[in-house]
Amino acid sequence: MNIYPTIFALHLLAATVWTGGHLVLALTVLPRALRQRNPQVLLDFEQGYEKLGMPALAIQVASGLWMALQLVPDWEQWFSPTTGMERSIALKLALLGSTALIAAHARLRVIPRLSASTLPLMAWHVAAVTLLSVGFVLAGITFRYGGL
Ligand code: HEM
Repeated sequence: MNIYPTIFALHLLAATVWTGGHLVLALTVLPRALRQRNPQVLLDFEQGYEKLGMPALAIQVASGLWMALQLVPDWEQWFSPTTGMERSIALKLALLGSTALIAAHARLRVIPRLSASTLPLMAWHVAAVTLLSVGFVLAGITFRYGGL
């Protein structure tokens, strides 16, 4: 039985949670927290969203790598891309690496010291991860057209 459509559907659903959630965070919650100079507004949203966001990201990585393996079985090619599909996969991996680095820095260095004065620094981290999440969606669409 071909499970690719099911995995693809899971990938799309989890994408709505990851990218949609970050757009809500960056465009509605963050401006309010900055206006009120109140980091608690951000922490309250994160505490709720995290329970959905982290499993969604895990689904993205697992389903994305599985689909990438179906499309380009020779995974070593992902790291020295020569075709459009290989370049699209390489871009996805670069977006994933950047997201992991920025999220880890926020969690380990910014959030433990979050205050009204460090809120702008946190805002840059949120903006960066949100832009990367939109990048994931745009990179995903390129596969339909033979890749980059
Ligand atoms: C949070 C992270 C991610 C988001 C939001 C995301 C989003 C998307 C979206 C929206 C599509 C569908 C585009 C369409 O309708 O044609 C897609 C396709 C795809 N994504 Fe992701 N993605 C993420 C992570 C990944 C990762 C880590 C990989 C692994 C390399 C990956 C591999 C793929 C592949 C191979 C496709 C093409 C499926 C096909 O057209 O058959 N994605 N992605």
